[in-house]
Amino acid sequence: MGVNRYGTGHVAGLDLQKVEEDLIKQALERNDWNQTRAAKFLGLTRNTLIYRMQKFGLNRKEYRITNEETSLTDESKGAVDLSGERIHWDPEGGMTYGNYLSLERILSSQKPVSSHHDEMLFIVIHQVTELWMKLSLHELTAVLRQIQTDELGPAFKMLSRVARIQGQLILSWDVLSTMTPFDYSSFRDELQQSSGFQSYQYRTLEFVLGNKNRALIEVHRGDPEIYARLKETLGSPSVYDETLKMLARRGFKIPSERIERDWAEPYEPHSDVEAAWLEVYRDVKTHWDLYELAEKFIDLEHKFQQWRFAHMKTVERIIGQKRGTGGSSGVSYLQKALNLSFFPELWSVRTSI
Ligand code: HEM
Repeated sequence: MGVNRYGTGHVAGLDLQKVEEDLIKQALERNDWNQTRAAKFLGLTRNTLIYRMQKFGLNRKEYRITNEETSLTDESKGAVDLSGERIHWDPEGGMTYGNYLSLERILSSQKPVSSHHDEMLFIVIHQVTELWMKLSLHELTAVLRQIQTDELGPAFKMLSRVARIQGQLILSWDVLSTMTPFDYSSFRDELQQSSGFQSYQYRTLEFVLGNKNRALIEVHRGDPEIYARLKETLGSPSVYDETLKMLARRGFKIPSERIERDWAEPYEPHSDVEAAWLEVYRDVKTHWDLYELAEKFIDLEHKFQQWRFAHMKTVERIIGQKRGTGGSSGVSYLQKALNLSFFPELWSVRTSI
């Protein structure tokens, strides 16, 4: 017996596929092309009949699938009407939704270390955050290039996207706050010394945006590849450093020690940089793109601060004043980060505008 792609075959010279097609055609003709009645006649559901009609090309114009009235007793009641659709039931070319997105790998990467129900929420929320951070880094790396080449148009779109991602991340604390201290304490010990403090994507994000701190890469010494990548980002100009270089290229008076320096050192605000931003804000017509860039930065940092604050408050709600699994003082450590700023003069200049 030869088997064709539909799994039907040839038995003693009979083409089973042809037989099936003829049966369906006959059933449709006997029932005036009413699919509901034809399906009943054949002992199939209406959607199965439609699937087979499409398989045999019976949805071509001459055998058009009609939008029949569906009676309340129709067995397909409640199911989506597939008539007239051209669903690819058997996608050709090998590409499917699942394999394009590597869903098998993603959806088998949640590996709880306890049997506590809420640990799945804890894992998923961290993984989702890491994915959003991956996209944010993808966007910000491109933003860096755009600023280096003085092409700000595309950078605006990317910065808006990052701010929206931040919006998603802020909302995610709402979901996490459904976990009570009791729930978390049921599996916290199993987490051992692992902590978001060791998120290398988070650290990269902070470095790319301008919050440089050499000490923080030390926690990654155990992973030479990550350590090397972080070290490189630490020693490269941040988005803000590149912006100041651009301001200098455009003729603003930017102190040379702000545009030629050891990039791994934390940035220190300077009154001349604030004066340059004041010039931008005082004549936005002339400096519209710089003004727009400054506001995108403020938007992004504002959201970043909201994320940090919501994290700190959620942590306080769940573990109170306990130490963190990463070894820090916990809430007090997170509070310190609230005072950090990626774009300090963009905040201070607001007092003078
Ligand atoms: C029950 C929920 C959570 C608790 C109790 C918690 C607790 C903490 C604590 C205490 C710290 C300070 C470092 C330490 O000693 O561990 C920390 C840092 C951190 N957590 Fe969480 N966290 C939670 C959820 C999350 C989630 C969902 C994320 C998302 C990825 C996250 C990302 C981070 C990051 C990136 C840091 C480092 C912050 C910095 O160094 O400024 N945390 N967390």
